[in-house]
This record gives sequence, structure tokens and C-alpha cells, in this order.
Amino acid sequence: MPRAVNVAIIGAGLVGSAFISALQTVRSPAITYNVILIARSTRALISKSYAPLPLSSWAADVAAAPAALSPGDIAAYLEKSPLPVILVDNTSDEALARVYPLFLRQGVSIATPSKKAFSAELGLWNAIFNAAANGPHAETTASTAGLVYHEASCGAGLPVISTLKDLVATGDEVVKIEGIMSGTLSYIFNEYSSTSPSAATDSKFSDVVLKAKQLGYTEPDPRDDLNGLDVARKLTILARLAGLDVASATSFPVRSLIPRALLEVETAAEFLDKLPAHDDEPAKLRAEAAAEGKVLRYVGKVDLTTNVKKDQVSVDIQKYDASHAFAGLSGSDNVFAFYTRRYGANPLIVQGAGAGAEVTAMGVLADVIKIAERVAK
Ligand SMILES: NC(=O)c1ccc[n+]([C@@H]2O[C@H](COP(=O)([O-])OP(=O)(O)OC[C@H]3O[C@@H](n4cnc5c(N)ncnc54)[C@H](OP(=O)(O)O)[C@@H]3O)[C@@H](O)[C@H]2O)c1
Repeated sequence: MPRAVNVAIIGAGLVGSAFISALQTVRSPAITYNVILIARSTRALISKSYAPLPLSSWAADVAAAPAALSPGDIAAYLEKSPLPVILVDNTSDEALARVYPLFLRQGVSIATPSKKAFSAELGLWNAIFNAAANGPHAETTASTAGLVYHEASCGAGLPVISTLKDLVATGDEVVKIEGIMSGTLSYIFNEYSSTSPSAATDSKFSDVVLKAKQLGYTEPDPRDDLNGLDVARKLTILARLAGLDVASATSFPVRSLIPRALLEVETAAEFLDKLPAHDDEPAKLRAEAAAEGKVLRYVGKVDLTTNVKKDQVSVDIQKYDASHAFAGLSGSDNVFAFYTRRYGANPLIVQGAGAGAEVTAMGVLADVIKIAERVAK
């Protein structure tokens, strides 16, 4: 008789839809995954009897389902599940993230690609990992508590979080973490400042931003990428896992790529219209780097060699030699370099697509499988 878990899926957009497709391809004779809840922002499809929902028509079934439930109502429903529950949060809803400690305490495990819970104030991070059975205080946590996994919150499907956790858990000493953590900013800088002899050296920063938007690489408002907050959120997660008590994603220096003069601009269209007037500063930086045989990259850095707080975590434009792994990056790839005592001068490097619904869903599903292997009954 296979063991089983109940799966509650909140958020069925790009990643959530890809997750539901991927879940149906899992071939595990040992564990059965029963979906009992699928919710979008306005609708929630629930199996009142906790019998598995049919997945062949889930999108239409959710569209016809009653109005969405509050996180409290969802917690009350999941509490009565006869099987262990894995809640898959495919939203970026901070209100839902704030309820994670409650879910964990009542025994619900969580798998999520969302950064919200892990990059908010340190108090929420501590509350989540104090409540979880796989947190640093697991020995004092109730044995019935849930597990929390969030591999895809950083680098999508790339094994970034698990690699860092393994380095720390096995007693390696993390010295420095450097990474290009935004697919959008990776693309923009790879295009703008390239090592390729055939690359244009006179392209304009504003033109590259516009091209990235036209290709669908940016958020609807490119300022949401250019402000650096997405990178800062990912870096907050990595820094905390490496052992730094980072207060929040806005508590360390982050270089915004939004020109100061355009900070008050109201719409994205107006911003893109006015950006060409500010092409000189990036052009100057690119020329300085080129004179040294280097390229520019937008990099998040955690430095554990210093006790100077303001130098420990930062997001900035950096210069790299053409021979450096970051310089040869192409497209919108992410790259993460872990410098540790064991790896010495040659860092452990994780590189590949850092966004995209299918690879992100894979990261979430791999977490769900890891949890199920531990909790299924
Ligand atoms: N897309 C990627 O490449 C990628 C990569 C790494 C990480 N992520 C993370 O993955 C998560 C999902 O991203 P996505 O691209 O799939 O976003 P998305 O397409 O906008 O989907 C978000 C989904 O969440 C639902 N939702 C929002 N608030 C909700 C609430 N309170 N209750 C129930 N459902 C709610 C939305 O409902 P409606 O359908 O009703 O709008 C939608 O179905 C985010 O945290 C994102 O940062 C995404």
C-alpha cells in the first residue's frame, strides 16, 4: 500500500499551473500525491471530504469554484486533514507568508518559490524557522510541526539554497557568496557590456532596457527590476542561511539603476521615455571597465570575512576580467559562486536559467517530494 500526502496549492498562475502539470508526471510507486485544494486570488476549489480532486479539468473547476478563503479559513480546513498536508504557496502574497508559522505549528508543511516570507523582517524569518521541524531549533520544536522548503525562492530550479544549506550543515566555512541573481539584469548587462569581439561597444543602456522589456524579460514596469529589490531579497535569504542576521532586504546598500532624477516619475512609459537622457553614467562606467579589459555585471555579494556590517552584504555594479565566469554569461542566466574553506580559491559555481515557470515549478516539486518522503503516511 503506497503512503500518501494531501497537497494544497495556493496560486495557479505561471508557476502554479506548471506545478500542477508537473505533479501529474511524478512517478512514485511509494507515495501518492492527493490534491485537495487549488486556490487563485478570487476562487478556491476545495475537496470537502478530503478525497483527491480530479486534475484533468482543474482550471475550469477553479474558475467555477466559490470565493477565495482567508488564510485563517484555509488553516482551519487543513487542520482537519486525515493525511499530512503540504501547502504549496505559488503566490507572492506577503499576507499569506505571514501565516506560515501558524501552518507549521499545526503540522502543515510548506513548499514555495516565494521570497516574501524569507526576505521580510528578521522576526518573521525567526518565527518561521522556530516553528518548523527542520529549523535550527528543531530539537525544541514539537515533533508534529511541519517542514518548510523554499529552494525556488532563489535561482528558481537551480540548486542554490540546498547547496548552501549542505555546505553549512556539513561544517564547511562559507567565506563569500557572489551572484548574478536577476535574469533581467543578467540579460541587460550581458548585452550592454560584453566580452564578445562582435558585440556593439556603443549601445545605449536605455535601448538595452527597452529591448529587454520588448522581449518580455522585465516586469511590466522595468523599474521593479532596475531598483535592485528583487536581488536584495534573494541576497537576504542567502546571507541569513550563511549565518548573518540581516534585518531586512532594505537594511544594506543596494545600488538602484533608476537615475535619481527619475525617482519621482509616475508611469513606466514616462520613465522609459526619459531614460535616454541618462545614458552617460552607465556609458562612463562601461568605458572605464573596458579600459581595464573588464565588463560590468550587476552582482549581489555576501562577505563573511569582514565584521564591518555595511560591507557584509551589498548589491552593486562590479567589474570582471573577461576570463571570469561572470563575464562569459549569456542570455538571462543566473550564476552563484560559493567561496568556502573547502573549495579554496576555485568557488563552487551553480549556473543556469534563474527564472521560467517550468524550471521554477521543478524546484517546488522537488521540495514537495523531499517533504513527502519524510511525512507521508
Ligand atoms: N515566474 C518565474 O519565473 C518565477 C521564478 C522564481 C520564483 N517565482 C515566484 O513564484 C511565485 C509565483 O510566480 P508566478 O510567475 O506564477 O506569478 P503569477 O503568474 O502572477 O501567479 C500568481 C498566482 O497567485 C495567485 N494569488 C495571488 N494572491 C493570492 C492569494 N492571496 N490567494 C490565492 N491565490 C493568490 C494569483 O491568482 P490569480 O490567478 O487570481 O491572479 C495567481 O494565480 C512568486 O512568488 C514568484 O516570485 C517565479
